[in-house]
Amino acid sequence: MTYRYVALARYCDGLPVEDDFAIHEGPVPVPGDGQFRARHIWNSVDPGTRSRLSGSDTYAAAQTLGKPMDGFSVGVIEESKHPDWPEGTQIFFAGGWRTHSILNGKGFIGKVQEAGLPLSTWIGVLGVPGLTAWFGTREIGRFREGDRVLISSAAGPVGATAGQLARAWGASRVVGIAGTAEKCAWLTEEAGFDAAINYKAVDDLDAAIAENMPEGVDLLFDNVGNRMIDRVLPRMRYKGRICVSGQVADYSVAPAERDGIRNTMPFITHQVNMQGLVVFTFAKGFAEALTGMAKMIHAGQLKLKEERFEGLDAMPSAFCGLFRGENFGRRVVRVGDET
Ligand SMILES: NC(=O)c1ccc[n+]([C@@H]2O[C@H](COP(=O)([O-])OP(=O)(O)OC[C@H]3O[C@@H](n4cnc5c(N)ncnc54)[C@H](OP(=O)(O)O)[C@@H]3O)[C@@H](O)[C@H]2O)c1
Repeated sequence: MTYRYVALARYCDGLPVEDDFAIHEGPVPVPGDGQFRARHIWNSVDPGTRSRLSGSDTYAAAQTLGKPMDGFSVGVIEESKHPDWPEGTQIFFAGGWRTHSILNGKGFIGKVQEAGLPLSTWIGVLGVPGLTAWFGTREIGRFREGDRVLISSAAGPVGATAGQLARAWGASRVVGIAGTAEKCAWLTEEAGFDAAINYKAVDDLDAAIAENMPEGVDLLFDNVGNRMIDRVLPRMRYKGRICVSGQVADYSVAPAERDGIRNTMPFITHQVNMQGLVVFTFAKGFAEALTGMAKMIHAGQLKLKEERFEGLDAMPSAFCGLFRGENFGRRVVRVGDET
């Protein structure tokens, strides 16, 4: 048995590339008192990670060169010196791009409870993407029944879940923006969106948004960044809300070179509210949200596409592809046996 992990080999400049990462090996770590070792089964790759790869801190500290990349994982406890976390327990946790983790039960961690769902669901709809969608829509977006909801990067795990939650909670219109015809077809045919705009295929995205949101936007759930927010601001309705969930178009751009937000007048004229989301601030509500979303999955109200990769070595390319629009749904990487 060998411990393997992916580390950042150098700080990223622009879009991340596979050579920014390196694979390392070492002895399998041994838990001390009050600790346990998890064997990872599934790891995720998350676009927000990019914000920590340029060497500067965000709300989370910059990724350290040579150390295992942070991320989310599902695994099983294989050695424990902690009474509450016995061997054999399946868990989801802030694990990372590695094959084993030493944990103490604190931070983002939970026991897999819902039977009958693939284990990888716990880093998908029932993981950080689903929680981001839930709290971004409900708490930051202050969702109200009848809302007209617009979502960017709508075919990604966060966007697709946010749209389906808004649909289930009584939105009057849900429109997604995504980068391929296939993604747009899935949004309308499978995920229950009213319409989807392929932003790479339309000549005039502003006009396409106006056409598809004829009565304006009550809630913009933005995963993309400043330029998207700026173009949607003039379409915001009175007391509209913008949830700043992510900035996937901006993470790889130096702050001084990012687009600005100029259409600020609706903040006054329409009393629009824009607020950023840090999903972990809602940790107290995670259990309730997970129970709610598990029920919706079983009821067929919540669907998520998943792309599966094999082996730890696949993690850098799975991650870099997120910024080329290659992923269609949640990217998960199998790094260990499920049995
Ligand atoms: N605030 C929080 O607490 C929190 C927590 C977790 C995640 N997030 C954020 O939620 C957002 C969505 O995450 P996710 O996991 O669901 O990933 P995701 O939306 O699947 O992100 C990858 C997708 O982003 C789109 N994209 C990539 N580069 C782009 C560009 N330059 N312009 C426009 N779109 C681009 C591509 O889709 P297209 O083909 O459609 O272009 C790509 O497939 C991310 O920004 C993430 O950081 C926030």
